[in-house]
Amino acid sequence: MTGSYNLTIRPGYDEVGREYFHHSSGQRINTDAVIIEALRKQYPELSVVVAPAATCNLLAFAGSGHALAAPIQDTTDPVYAPIRWRQYIPPARRLDHGAGALADIVMFGKYIYNWNSHEFIVYIVNGRDGSSAYPSVVNNYILTKETISADQLIIAASKYGSELHNEVWVFDGGYWQKSGELWQSVQHSKWEDVILDAGMKKAIINDVDHFFDSRDTYTKLKVPWKRGIIYYGPPGNGKTISIKAMMHSLYQRKEAIPTLYVRTLASFAGPEYSINQIFGKARQEAPCYLVFEDLDSIVSDSVRSYFLNEVDGLKSNDGILMVGSTNHLDRLDPAISKRPSRFDRKYYFPDPNFDQRVAYCHYWQHKLSDNPDIEFPDKLCIAIANITDKFSFAYMQEAFVAALLAIAASQNSVDADLYVGPAKSANLTSRMAADPLSGEDPDLDDLILWQEIRKQIKILREEMDEKSVKHAK
Ligand SMILES: Nc1ncnc2c1ncn2[C@@H]1O[C@H](COP(=O)(O)OP(=O)(O)OP(=O)(O)O)[C@@H](O)[C@H]1O
Ligand SMILES: [Mg+2]
Repeated sequence: MTGSYNLTIRPGYDEVGREYFHHSSGQRINTDAVIIEALRKQYPELSVVVAPAATCNLLAFAGSGHALAAPIQDTTDPVYAPIRWRQYIPPARRLDHGAGALADIVMFGKYIYNWNSHEFIVYIVNGRDGSSAYPSVVNNYILTKETISADQLIIAASKYGSELHNEVWVFDGGYWQKSGELWQSVQHSKWEDVILDAGMKKAIINDVDHFFDSRDTYTKLKVPWKRGIIYYGPPGNGKTISIKAMMHSLYQRKEAIPTLYVRTLASFAGPEYSINQIFGKARQEAPCYLVFEDLDSIVSDSVRSYFLNEVDGLKSNDGILMVGSTNHLDRLDPAISKRPSRFDRKYYFPDPNFDQRVAYCHYWQHKLSDNPDIEFPDKLCIAIANITDKFSFAYMQEAFVAALLAIAASQNSVDADLYVGPAKSANLTSRMAADPLSGEDPDLDDLILWQEIRKQIKILREEMDEKSVKHAK
């Protein structure tokens, strides 16, 4: 192609192309090959077995007390000293007042490793090949006299790493991670603290228990052993605490059933990748309880068909019980909520009725029974239930918490009155007198909890009314 251009294109000469291809075809670097060659030279009498640290974390295994790893000091040359990154790990909860801890990330290290009366030399090397920053590849190079014992070590350490130790699997940010915090919170979640219609509570518990008990029945009937349940209803009425109480009771079974808890599909590789990872893990962990909090926001229109493919596609989902919670059943596509063997069982969690509100007040009465400052007779439960019609449990909780805080604050200010005189407490009494709900039951009017909770309920009701007006517009 010359001729028709003014600029000269030189045929048969392409400096740029030559440079580009030269630059792009450098020798492939393989840290594995370099390390293995060097190890064979240094320890000709030993065999080398390589295990990736991502699935076999030998240092964590030793750290848990299952093995011993002592750093080898075989050189005084500082150039070849171990390389570590030191990282500060904050405490899981700031409230626990923990100091956090320093943890080392080993980039290059060598250890004498003892496990099960076997001795190994282990090199841990981060071989970040080429220019790619991700993923980083860290391998264990295990030097041994008998490869069979190295194989056993790899199995034991990998198994330990894949098991949970007072943790729950949580899917967040595109991968499964272990959460000790959720596990802790589940330990405190009990069915006795969940107030629901007695029949519904029994059905909810039985549904799940029966499912995990009836593998044989499903097999006999030749139907896949899988189910989906939806908990729906307005916010704050016990969907999440029921899921947590269920998780707790499933961990208590003779053969504990693990929970896989999905928070979001958002990930670096897109929601389809997340769905694939989620169901892959669920099949691996089955029988298991697979939780989707806020199902309607998880299964959006764009991923629905992909999701359904995993739910009832070709791969077996035997032993997987899915539960999804939602405030908006109507937003869920009928393909999900109406088709048998998907999420075909549904439970509605309504705002509590009068009896349930009384029961919830009794729960607080019990909670406060060892507090000498709070007088809480039975008839206060009825009085509070009477004025909280249309409140959710969460709103009732808010009324109790706010009232108790206000009482604590006013008691502090009464203490302060010792110094500033009685004006403040007089002020408190006049505010009480202005309360329009005051005087409904003269016997109760002296109780500080009743005085405060009435005020809080009034504030919350105004807030609720405002919200519903906005909603109606
Ligand atoms: N049925 C209930 N019995 C006892 N307490 C309840 C009940 N429902 C809600 N609560 C109280 O309200 C709080 C919030 O409840 P929960 O998180 O279960 O609501 P939810 O139904 O999951 O709401 P959302 O739809 O907003 O997720 C709970 O921590 C608990 O203190
Ligand atoms: Mg919830």
